[in-house]
Amino acid sequence: MAKSGLEKAREKVLTLRREIEKHNYHYHVLDKPLIDDQRFDRLMRELQELEENYPQLQDPDSPTRRVGAEPLAAFEALEHKIPMLGLDNAFNEKDLVDFDARVRRLTGLETIEYLCELKIDGLAVSLQYEDGIFKRGATRGDGYTGEDITQNLRTIRQIPLQLAEALTLEARGEVYINRAAFEQLNRQREEQGLMIFANPRNAAAGSLRQLDPRLAAARPLRIFIYGLGEHSLSLTEQAEMLAYLEKLHLPVNANYSVCSGPGEVWQYCLQWQDKRHQLPYETDGIVVKTNRLDLQKNLGNTARSPRWAIAYKYPPEVKTTKILDVGVNVGRTGTITPVAHLEPVSLSGTTVQRASLHNEDFIAEKEIMIGDTVTIHKAGEIIPEVLGVVKEKRSGRETKFKMPGNCPSCGAETVRLSGEAALRCINPSCPAQLVEKLVHFASRRAMDIEGLGPAVAGMLYRQGLVGDVGDLYFLEVEQLTGLERMAEKSASNLISAIGKSKEKPLRRLLFGLGISFVGEKAARLLAEKFTDLDRLQNAGTDELTEIAEIGPKIAQAAVSFFRSAGTAPVLGKLRQAGVNFSEPEATAVPGEGRTELAGKVFVFSGSLEQYTRDQAAALVEERGGKVSSAVSGKIDYLVIGADPGSKLAKARTLGVKILDENGFNELIR
Ligand code: IVH
Repeated sequence: MAKSGLEKAREKVLTLRREIEKHNYHYHVLDKPLIDDQRFDRLMRELQELEENYPQLQDPDSPTRRVGAEPLAAFEALEHKIPMLGLDNAFNEKDLVDFDARVRRLTGLETIEYLCELKIDGLAVSLQYEDGIFKRGATRGDGYTGEDITQNLRTIRQIPLQLAEALTLEARGEVYINRAAFEQLNRQREEQGLMIFANPRNAAAGSLRQLDPRLAAARPLRIFIYGLGEHSLSLTEQAEMLAYLEKLHLPVNANYSVCSGPGEVWQYCLQWQDKRHQLPYETDGIVVKTNRLDLQKNLGNTARSPRWAIAYKYPPEVKTTKILDVGVNVGRTGTITPVAHLEPVSLSGTTVQRASLHNEDFIAEKEIMIGDTVTIHKAGEIIPEVLGVVKEKRSGRETKFKMPGNCPSCGAETVRLSGEAALRCINPSCPAQLVEKLVHFASRRAMDIEGLGPAVAGMLYRQGLVGDVGDLYFLEVEQLTGLERMAEKSASNLISAIGKSKEKPLRRLLFGLGISFVGEKAARLLAEKFTDLDRLQNAGTDELTEIAEIGPKIAQAAVSFFRSAGTAPVLGKLRQAGVNFSEPEATAVPGEGRTELAGKVFVFSGSLEQYTRDQAAALVEERGGKVSSAVSGKIDYLVIGADPGSKLAKARTLGVKILDENGFNELIR
């Protein structure tokens, strides 16, 4: 009997799906496409059309459905059947030798074979396959329960929707973003006035936590798979496991190596020390695992980490380069910051050409001169910093840098106020300051006006369209279209973002106005007490200091801001435009009244996987605790993430309690 149309279509659909999956694998995993993009697109279109014409053939696991799920309200929790543990760290050769000695002692073996692989700096995920079909995926979370981020993981083209064999297993790996893609993403975000990510790892984490999978799909996420969770394969070696994962079409990092004993492991670490910076992605160390899987099973885990594996962490990179010149930046409050223009040098994965020299005292203390050869490193996350001058390299032609007597933007005389390290331009109508004020006002934590970054703010100012934040609310689409960087769409988006910001509560407006010393917290306290701007404006310092956490310095700054001649016209424009001046009465302070961490002082060090620093600090403060920046005998906990730096050693000598992220999670649960 002749096949019906439907049957033929079904066969074609199945062939097309297999075909597309194959090309997807060759393109995204092997990086060796078999066909060009047009032919691939044609296959996709053909499949799409068939699925449209025959709705009964539609399938949520079809490659046409990688992106497309509806945005979620929140992520569901997903429990890990086998906990996703962290790794213990080794910082030098001796730590690796000690690790090997422990493994030999516990196993009674003379020599141990290790599988060494690159430690990818991203975030751990788990992928569940059922009969070869990708069904669910989760973040690591606290190691026991993660968040179900299936929709976002499906958008990563390197993740096969279908394995090469119909197996049921859980694969584990690291989601990351290539450095170049990260830098491009940040450039784009800066243009749009969005917060920039501190490093590729944060960008990857933020992207995976998007509730709208279409947004996640727009991020250049990638993945390497390095192991298995639950599975029923019979394997004997880690290296064999990796080869098998590759055979299943999962993306495995090819740079692994089997090393016999700690000597060879150390050679592997040294071999990658510099070479790793040539890779397109960030690595922060080497993961060393016993190659024999039966040893892994016998050695087992401690509460925190497996006994059969360790992570060697590379020391932070230090480079030397030359200071070609020193320029200055003018900040929002008129602070004049000297900036070193450096001979471009690649440092921990990015090309560095600028480093802040902070202020006059910093330059004097380090005796920095123009033309000097200096050592630089990346402080904290990605901010390049000058460590010191290599004096032996001086030729005698170096010149002293003098802070400018006049503001480079407006020409007004610069002053150093008593008790301050910074030199300032105190001209209230200095263009550079005004542009920075606009950018701050529009920033995410203030009025959150998307699309108003430094480039656009500078352009609006230069065009004479905006002189202060009040003017923003009188802009019209027609004035913007046709200006540089302003297509009609971006113009109308900007106007609508400005319009939307009118509804923000008073605390955001207060913070956005950029009153000296009034940060987010003071702005919230003031808004809550006075509930509307008019009442706050008429208050004297006495009334302000009635708030327990508002001291005389903040109170004085707020009072002089409202009395200063420049303020009234700006507030007048905001009022006329209908910007909200009030704070909703019942702003629920998150966690108000909670006291479980009362009196406890925390310091954070290193990069956390699950929280930004601000989020972690908020969790402590909501529970009545305090966050400090320096380790001393007075603090109660040091919470460490990756690369905790010198604070860790100091905390150890002081006997401060040290927590990793899991320990912190337990404490705040
Ligand atoms: S093995 C129990 N292999 O590093 C085994 N982890 O602190 C733990 N990571 O959470 C994972 N590259 O996010 C392993 N090649 C690799 C890795 C790797 C990066 C991350 C992973 C894990 C953390 C360990």
